[in-house]
Order: sequence, then C-alpha cells, then structure tokens
Amino acid sequence: MLLASCQKIAKEKNYTIGFSQCTGNDSWRQTMLAEMKRELSFHNNISFIYKDAGANSQKQIQQIEELVKQKIDLLIVSPNEVQPLSPIIEKVYKSGIPVVVVDRRTDTKDYTAFIGASNFEVGQNAGRYADYLLHGKGNVMEVTGIPDASPVIDRHTGFMNIISQYHQIKYVKKFEDYSPEKKYNEIEDYLKNNTDIDLIYAQNDFMALDIYKICKQLNLENKIKIIGIDGLPIKGAGLDMVANKEIAATILYPTGGQESILTAVNILDNKPYEKENQLFTTIIDSSNVRIMKLQSDKILSQQNDIERQQEILNDQIKIYKTQKTFNNILISALLLVIILGTTVFFSWRRNKRITKKLQLQNEEISRQSRQLIEVSAKAEEAHQARLNFFTNISHEFRTPLTLIFAPLGELIANTRIQQETKQSLQLIQRNVMRLYRLVSQLMDFRKIEFKKMKLHASENDLVSFSKEIVDSFKVLAKNKNIDLEFITTERSLFVWFDTTMIDKVIFNVLSNAFKFTNDHGLVHVTISKNNDDAIIKIEDDGIGMTKDVIEHAFEPFFQGEYENYKGTGLGLALSNELMELHHGSIKVSSEQRRGSLFEIRLPLGNQHFEKNEVENISDKEKPAVNENADIYTTDLYNISNIPQQTFGAILPKYLTVLIIEDNDEMRDYLASRLGTEYNIIEAENSNTALHAAFDAVPDLILCDIVIPGKNGLELTQIFKSDVRTSHIPLILLTAKDQDFQKIEGMETQADAYITKPFNLLFLQKTIKSLLRNREKIKDHYSGEIFSEEKSQVSKKEDRKFLIEFTAIVENNISNEDFGVNDICDELRISRVQLYRKVKTVLNCSVNDYIVTTRLQKAKYYIQHENLSISEIAFKSGFSSAAYFSTVFKSKFGVTPSAFKEN
Ligand code: FRU
Repeated sequence: MLLASCQKIAKEKNYTIGFSQCTGNDSWRQTMLAEMKRELSFHNNISFIYKDAGANSQKQIQQIEELVKQKIDLLIVSPNEVQPLSPIIEKVYKSGIPVVVVDRRTDTKDYTAFIGASNFEVGQNAGRYADYLLHGKGNVMEVTGIPDASPVIDRHTGFMNIISQYHQIKYVKKFEDYSPEKKYNEIEDYLKNNTDIDLIYAQNDFMALDIYKICKQLNLENKIKIIGIDGLPIKGAGLDMVANKEIAATILYPTGGQESILTAVNILDNKPYEKENQLFTTIIDSSNVRIMKLQSDKILSQQNDIERQQEILNDQIKIYKTQKTFNNILISALLLVIILGTTVFFSWRRNKRITKKLQLQNEEISRQSRQLIEVSAKAEEAHQARLNFFTNISHEFRTPLTLIFAPLGELIANTRIQQETKQSLQLIQRNVMRLYRLVSQLMDFRKIEFKKMKLHASENDLVSFSKEIVDSFKVLAKNKNIDLEFITTERSLFVWFDTTMIDKVIFNVLSNAFKFTNDHGLVHVTISKNNDDAIIKIEDDGIGMTKDVIEHAFEPFFQGEYENYKGTGLGLALSNELMELHHGSIKVSSEQRRGSLFEIRLPLGNQHFEKNEVENISDKEKPAVNENADIYTTDLYNISNIPQQTFGAILPKYLTVLIIEDNDEMRDYLASRLGTEYNIIEAENSNTALHAAFDAVPDLILCDIVIPGKNGLELTQIFKSDVRTSHIPLILLTAKDQDFQKIEGMETQADAYITKPFNLLFLQKTIKSLLRNREKIKDHYSGEIFSEEKSQVSKKEDRKFLIEFTAIVENNISNEDFGVNDICDELRISRVQLYRKVKTVLNCSVNDYIVTTRLQKAKYYIQHENLSISEIAFKSGFSSAAYFSTVFKSKFGVTPSAFKEN
C-alpha cells in the first residue's frame, strides 16, 4: 500500500527552449519576456535559455547558432531584420529543431509556427483613425523603427493603404530608424520649421511619447494629433498615455509571449497546433481606454495573484519535496527496521535451534564421556587384571623353570649321553633361560609400576663391577668372533647404586648389543666420569636402529621391526625405570647399519637418595653377582658354530631339500631332522636362497615367510614363475597362522602351508607326499621309461641339466618345428654335447625323448581331454593326424582312435 500510494505520475520529458530576442531593452519586449516566463512557470519540465541580440542581426545569427549547440529542443525567435535572419531560421528548421517565429517575420516559410498580430491590419487601423481625427484632410508625418523590420514595412503599407484613399490627407514626411539619440533633435527641428503637420503616426508608443514631448515643447501638443502602437497596459505606457491625453490613440499590438510558449509546448508534446497564429488588434482611444485599463488592471492584478499563488505553490512544492525526502527516509528506515527485525527474528530462532541442538550434543557428549570414563576404567581394570594374571603366572613359572633348568644342567654335564641328545638338551636349556629372563623382567617391571621395588644403594666400585659383567660375555664374543673390549679411564670408581638393579641394566644393554651385532663385529664398554656422573658407554657396530625405534626404545612393550629378532619390549623399558630410581639416565644414539651407543649415567655421591634407600654396609665384600649371566647370554650362542654332527644312520640320499630359514636354531633343527632322509641345502636369507635354488635345483623347498631381504612370499613367486624352478614343490613354513595369511601364501602357488609350531612328523609326511606326487606328474609327461633313469641321476650338475632339458622339451611340445637345434640354443651347448649328455643321463637319443614326450602328452590328452584326434596331434606337435597315428601305433600297438575307444 505504501509503495502504491507513493507511485509517481508518469514522468514528463524534459525540454529546453531557446529564445532569441532581437532586442530586449524596451518595455514591450520586457512584457513579452515576462509573459513567457509566467507561462513557463506552469511547465516544470522546460528549461529556458534567453538571448538578447541588442538590435544587431549578426549578433542574433551568432546567438541562434550557440543555442543550437546547446542542444535546444525548440527555438523561439523574434527576428531583428527580414533578410539577414532568413537563412539561419531555415537552417535550424531543416536540422529538425522546431522554430516558432514571434512578432516579426522573415521571407522564409521554413518555420514551424508564427505568432503575432497582423501589422498590416495595425497600419490600416492607424490609417482609419487618422482619417477619423483629420476628417479626411490634413498633413501626416510618420516615424518608424529600422526600415528592414517586417512590422515597420507592414505597418506603413497598411497605413498608406487607408490614407491614400483620402486625397486631402497628405503624407508629408517620414522619419525611419528612430531612436531618441538619432532622430529626436532632427524631428524637433523639422517640426519647428514645418508647422503644417496635423498628425504624426508613430510606429510604437515610446516613439509617440517622444513626439508628444517635442510637440509640448514646441507648444504644438494641442494642434498635432499623435497615434502610437502597442497599447501596453503598464504604468506610463500606451494606455496611460491615451488616458492622459498625451496621444490620441494607440493601436493594440499584443506581444504574443504567452501564446508562443503555449504553441511551443504543444509542438514539443506532439499536440495539435496552428502554424499561423494571428493575434487580435484594436484601436484604443479616449472612448475605450478606461475600460481597457480596467480590464488590463484586472488582468495585471490577476497576474499578480497568479504570481503570488505561484510563489505559494513553489513554497508548497519545497515543503512537499522536504516532506517527500523525509518520508522516503522514514520509509527506508521502516523497511530497514522490518528487514533487521526479520533478520533478528530468524537469527534468534536459528540461535534457539542451535542452542537446543548444542545442548543435546552437549548432553550426548557428556553421556559419551561418562561412558568412556566407565569403559576406560573397566579397560584399565581389565588391563590390570591381565597384567596381574601375567605377573602371577610368571611367578608361577619361575619355580618350574628353575626346576627344569637345574637337572638339565646335570644332564648336559653327563658325559655318557650322545652328542645328538646333548644338543637337543642345550636347545631346551637356552629356551628355558629365555623364558626365565622374560618372566623375571615382567615381574620387575610390575614391581616398579606399583612402586614395590625398593632401592638398596651401596657404595661399589663400578669398574670392577662392570668388568665382571663384561667378562661373562667373553666366551660368547669369542664364539661369534666379536671384538669385545672393556675400556676405563679410572682404575676404580666408587659409586652408590643398587647392584642387583644396575647389574640388570648393564646385562640387558650388553646382551642387546650382542644380539644385534653380526659375527666379526665389535662391542666396546667404556667407563668414565665427569664432575657429576659416572658414565658407562656400551657401543656396538651392529644393525642399529631407525629413528622410530630410537624414539620408542624405552617404552614398555615396544618392539622394533628387526629382520632377525623380535624382543619382548621389556628389557630397555625396565632398564630405564631402574635408572630413574637411581636418579640417573639411560640414553641411546644410533644409526641404521652403523650400530648403537648406549650411555648410562649414575650420579656421584648419595645425596640424591632417600635415607631408607642407602645401605651402610658396602657390597664390596659380597660375592660377585653373576646370576644374571646365564639368563642373558645362554640364548645368544649360535648353535651353528657348534660342530655339526650327523643324525641317524647314513642313507643314500637322492633328493635334495632347500631350507630357507633365518632363525639359526630353527634352521639347524630342521636340517638335522630332515638331513637323515635328504640332502640338505641351507639358506639364511633370500639372496643365498635364490642362488641355492637356481644352482642346485633342489627337489623341494621349505621356506619361512619372514626372512631378511625378499620375503618368503616374494621368493615363492620368483621360483614358481621361473622355468628352472617352477616344478619344485614348495612348502611355506611360518608362524603366520591367520586364515588370510594362509590364503595369501597359497596364492603365490606354494604347494603347502604349514604353521609354526609344527608337528615334525606331519612336515616329513607332507614333504614325502609332495615329492611322490611330483614324480607321478613327471611320469605323465615324460613317460615311464625315463622315470627310473631320472630318479637315479644323483650328480648335481646332471640333475640340473636334466631339469632344464625336460623343461625346454615340455614347454615346446606343441611346436611341430621344435627340434635338437632349439634345445642346443637354449642350453647354449653343441649338438654333440647334447647327444652325449642325453645319452648318459637318460640312455636314449634326443629325438627319441622328444617323440616319446609328444606321445605321452598325446596319450594324456586322449585320456583326459575331450579333443579330436587331429586336435591332439596338433597340440602334441605332430605335423599331421596320419603321421601321429602311425607313430602312436608303432609305439603303443594301437591307433589313437582305438586307444580312445578302449
Ligand atoms: C519594440 C517594438 C514595439 C513594436 C514592435 C514591432 O521593439 O518596436 O514597440 O510594436 O517592436 O516589432
């Protein structure tokens, strides 16, 4: 509603009207301009440009051109003279700008409209009135303006047109181009000398007034009658002059100011208008001057009223405009308030919703966090229960382990037992130790966790203490050819510490150093001190640690990814805790494949201990603490360095098994157990495994999955995709016992997957079964006649040759062009060498072997595949079905078709 009520009336187009006035300094033309302006005040859409040429035609032409340049929409012109102004009026009109000519004419018809009274008629009226005044007899004089102005010409013509009819009226004198400066005195002189003038016809009222003044001066005012033109209603002008009897009459000549604006507006608004607009004219003399004056006074007062009203209207418009602006501001503000209000309302609603949602979320989060706390408390409880269980069970383990360990020692010491048994017992002993160490560490760790481990610090010589520990590794170092050195800057160094604890720390770090240092490596232990600490450095040049391992090395249950070893994740964590109890530290710096350096620091003095932690009796006199030695060193011995013994009876061994296993003990165990039946080749990493497989071409491969270098799965893929090894049965033997791991294993085309711990008998039976099946398959292809020969080939090189030779033949069996030359090329040997070799190994010729293999294959196809005889002939490498039938019959005594039917 607001918007509708404010709707504007269709906006009027804006126009500019240019008005070129020939001269503007007389009252008649000022009246014309005033009339125009009054009319214009009703048209707000019109701008008005006024130019006064000062009665100069050239100046007027120039001013009209300027108006055109100012892009006026319409030109009103009152031309100064006829001739000079015609071309410019014509030009403007032709350029498309409407031209309204007012008052004076030119001699062109190219204008849009003309406004003005007929000057001829004005002249006639003057003539008629002259006749009336003179009663048809007398002398007449005329005074005019510039001679080339159209009113001057027409007024004269009209006047002459009438008085010429009266012969006794004489037209005696004419003064042209009147202006008071130019002609006043001249006229005065003339009238002095020519007293016979009865009437003067002045072509406008102000000339008439001048004439009157001259006459009055010459006392001729009663004798000479004066007629003027214009009849302006303003003070002192035409009407007043008649009323005051200064002139006899004046001929009304309206200015046409209002009419010219009205016509211009119609033209601009495309409304109907007249081209020629003749204004009314009449004679004003003493008989009608009063009524005319009254009328014109009335008009004047009305005009004043109009002007006043106009002013009031303008004021109202101003007020309206101010109010409108205010109103607009108010409406804008209102709109803004509405918009803001709406926004605030929606924001508030949204906020409310969000707050509600947040509240709900908060409640949910609180609920979840309560649940989490409960769950984690339960988890912690469960974790503690589990750890307690482990601690308790570990504790339970210690006694039986000790009970196993002691008689075991006795058994091993017994000289009567066989070497084979002794080695098994030693294996048991090492693993018992390993278990024992694990159990002890777990228990210590739990004690620390529950602050139950009490520190008993006493003053001891760290040099002799450490040396004793280092010495207990000497045998191991010798065994592994490791350069073990004990270096010290001090002869003796007395430090306060708990011997059982530091013993564990040093043993732990040292045994780690040995674990991760290869044979022929080095392990150096250095004792030194500075002002505050005693420092034990244990350095090795072993496999080192990755950054990740270093970062977590001292965290409980952290297990680094090592190629050969998996720790418990307790040793270093425990050492760290023990060092903290001592207010000391243990740190490691390490680089992969460069080794590790452990630095253990013990603060000097005993100020840092609590009173109850310090024992006054020195441990110096106590017996050397070395009960840890076995725990830490026993399982580090490498069984392979113990002289190998042959197990079981020595039997002729035709088949070879390659064992790929990185764990020395496990490999040794497998080798010893399988060695009774097969030739054994051992490989501890993928490199040696690859060499062994391709060089020796074993009959079976037993492969662990986690091994250094390429893993077991990758190796299996390599073996199974290489013609030299693809036929070899392969068993994956691994601790990975998850179903998906087994599936992954079998996807590499392994022949069997056995998980650790395994049943030895099952393994042995699996190996046997795989080998037997392999033989059977081979028989299918190569024919029975060669199987015996093949199985008896025991020389390694011969076996390798045989495998390669038969593989080449089998791979090319469908190629009918395949022959001796192809085999020689592939094996890179001469024909003679090939013949000889085949003869020696298989006791037949190469061609015999190829043909027999083709026939065996054909026989297999007949028995197992639904193929036509010619297809089988083609697939088995025979050039035609007929040739195939002949050869088949000569070999087996029946044709292939007959064989198929049977
Ligand atoms: C004024 C005037 C008037 C006359 C008109 C004719 O300039 O002389 O007195 O009527 O011009 O154009």
